[in-house]
Amino acid sequence: MTSVSGVYGSPPSDLADVPREAIQFSPLIPGAASLDRQPAQSLDAMTLLAPPGTIERRYALALALRALKPGAPIVALAPNDRGGTRLRKELEALGLDVEETSKRHHRIAVARKPAKLTGIDDAVEAGGPRFDDEIGLWTQPGVFSWDRLDPGTGLLIEHLPDLSGRGADFGCGIGILARAVLATGAVSELTLIDIDRRAVECAQHNLDTPRARFLWTDLRDPHPQLASLDFVVMNAPFHDAGQEDKGLAQAFVKRAAESLRKGGICVMVANRHLPYEAVLKPLFKAVTPIIETGGYKIYEARK
Ligand SMILES: C[S@@+](CC[C@H](N)C(=O)[O-])C[C@H]1O[C@@H](n2cnc3c(N)ncnc32)[C@H](O)[C@@H]1O
Repeated sequence: MTSVSGVYGSPPSDLADVPREAIQFSPLIPGAASLDRQPAQSLDAMTLLAPPGTIERRYALALALRALKPGAPIVALAPNDRGGTRLRKELEALGLDVEETSKRHHRIAVARKPAKLTGIDDAVEAGGPRFDDEIGLWTQPGVFSWDRLDPGTGLLIEHLPDLSGRGADFGCGIGILARAVLATGAVSELTLIDIDRRAVECAQHNLDTPRARFLWTDLRDPHPQLASLDFVVMNAPFHDAGQEDKGLAQAFVKRAAESLRKGGICVMVANRHLPYEAVLKPLFKAVTPIIETGGYKIYEARK
């Protein structure tokens, strides 16, 4: 019988061996399988580049353990400063006997699924999707600003211009910004796009309207289907896998310019310290700063 392995994320190849045919389970890799839907005791081995958030990490570890067959090996690794130093204790709390090594500023924890696990249901419950009464939306630990309104998003919502027609929300998160955009009936269609499956699934719950469409995809890839839009809104990311990445926001701006019709607008909020104007100006006919406050800047760029 063939053995079925899983992998979560992209562990550096010098730190962990992952079979080429391993099933990918990271919610940040479009098209990956979903660990929360993987049948219990169906995997023969699992390797995780464990995610940085504590609740998110315990959730991924608990789901991985649930999906493993009894006695099957689990390898979990993380950079020291992104949860690595806590991995051992977290796995021990789930009932595992852990061997830990250290290499290239990572901790690598190796164990086997024991006959008896502890605390799995609590970890799964704590990390799963839930309705948050304070923000009035479905959310999940690990997605962007999962339990609070991001100040940049809040500022953009306050200063949204009148929008109408067909638009897109680039990096939609759980749909906070999109909810404000769709509040006006003049918007006939809004495509919400994010690289995080959990965010897209929450947004689907949150925006139950035929005017909303959803795409789980990487906006760095070309998207010819996003064409002739009247507007694009975005609170563009500037971190990729935890590292500041100015190229990511630049890719978002470039994709917005390609997706808009002539005269269409891109409305975006950005951290003041990032050089967006230089990116926007060559791609748009007119770039207007709308407001600058609290470390954020809002631009309206017309194609
Ligand atoms: C700053 S957050 C904004 C979320 C939401 N629009 C809000 O305002 O609360 C940026 C979003 O971009 C998403 N993202 C990051 N890289 C991406 C990529 N390459 N393609 C698509 N979405 C991406 C993140 O998952 C995150 O949800």
